[in-house]
Amino acid sequence: MMEKVPTIKLSNGNEMPVLGFGVFQMNNEETEQSVVDAIEIGYRSIDTAASYQNEEAVGRGIKKSGIARDKIFVTSKLWIADASYEKAKNAYQTSLEKLGLDYLDLYLLHQPFGDVFGAWKALAELYEAGKVKAIGVSNFSGAKLTNFVLTNQKVLDINTVPLVNQIETNPFNQEVEARAIMHEYGIVHEGWAPFAEGNYGIFTNGVLAKIAQGHGKTIGQVVLRWHVQKGIVAIPKSVRRERIEENFDVFDFELSHAEMDQIAGLDINATIVNHEDPEFVRRLFSRLG
Ligand SMILES: NC(=O)c1ccc[n+]([C@@H]2O[C@H](COP(=O)([O-])OP(=O)(O)OC[C@H]3O[C@@H](n4cnc5c(N)ncnc54)[C@H](OP(=O)(O)O)[C@@H]3O)[C@@H](O)[C@H]2O)c1
Repeated sequence: MMEKVPTIKLSNGNEMPVLGFGVFQMNNEETEQSVVDAIEIGYRSIDTAASYQNEEAVGRGIKKSGIARDKIFVTSKLWIADASYEKAKNAYQTSLEKLGLDYLDLYLLHQPFGDVFGAWKALAELYEAGKVKAIGVSNFSGAKLTNFVLTNQKVLDINTVPLVNQIETNPFNQEVEARAIMHEYGIVHEGWAPFAEGNYGIFTNGVLAKIAQGHGKTIGQVVLRWHVQKGIVAIPKSVRRERIEENFDVFDFELSHAEMDQIAGLDINATIVNHEDPEFVRRLFSRLG
């Protein structure tokens, strides 16, 4: 088992573990226990969000693990209800209080909706003041990201470029176009739903199964190894200790060029969530009352 998770350098020089642990869709009990398990197994990065309503449980898990604060990379996200200049700083403070921490390693605009420019101005101020180690965005397509960077620079005089864009990424949705834009702006590509949340027959896919068999690994491990070799930060979620362990055990084998090419051929741009769908946007805002 890996002693230390390899890291990816953000454009400010900070190191982010290439493999982290996601805690979406877990109740508080599961969250606390799985964070303890994950840290014990060796994960050094946890991805939560205000909207997951489990920041307190994540905080308890981190505390219980006994790990030193500076040895763990903690991410949370600003929800659309707080996506404005006026609300964003308070929302950050609330996340910190819930987590029981005095800084985050990464704070993301969770969605490309709401007043993202006002919110970004607030996040940039927090970042400049050293209150958060890195800031970024999530669910920004290539076009949205380009508009975001250029509007900040050329219209709003804000030169802080997101350090990370966390978007849905897995072999069936490889985000080739957005990835090229991220590369251009020096933005680290972080993928959510590395397993497509189990959709599209990922765990029975023939191509992945054959590759897995060849390495004596599982399909889940091949998928995560693909992320690692592409330099895409992966944050698999599981509430089962044996899977949390399995998902961490991806550093003792390597996919060949031919295998990486075969996986490249699985891309069908199949997303679980379509951020361009007006109904999806309406649904998010309808929850705000
Ligand atoms: N920024 C965003 O908008 C956004 C959106 C969604 C997610 N995320 C982040 O990304 C993280 C990961 O994405 P996700 O949770 O949506 O989906 P995911 O990691 O692709 O899939 C999780 C699902 O796969 C199962 N699973 C985990 N490991 C497995 C394995 N080795 N073999 C078979 N099944 C396995 C889990 O079940 P069990 O738990 O029962 O093992 C769960 O049902 C989230 O937890 C969250 O932190 C961010």
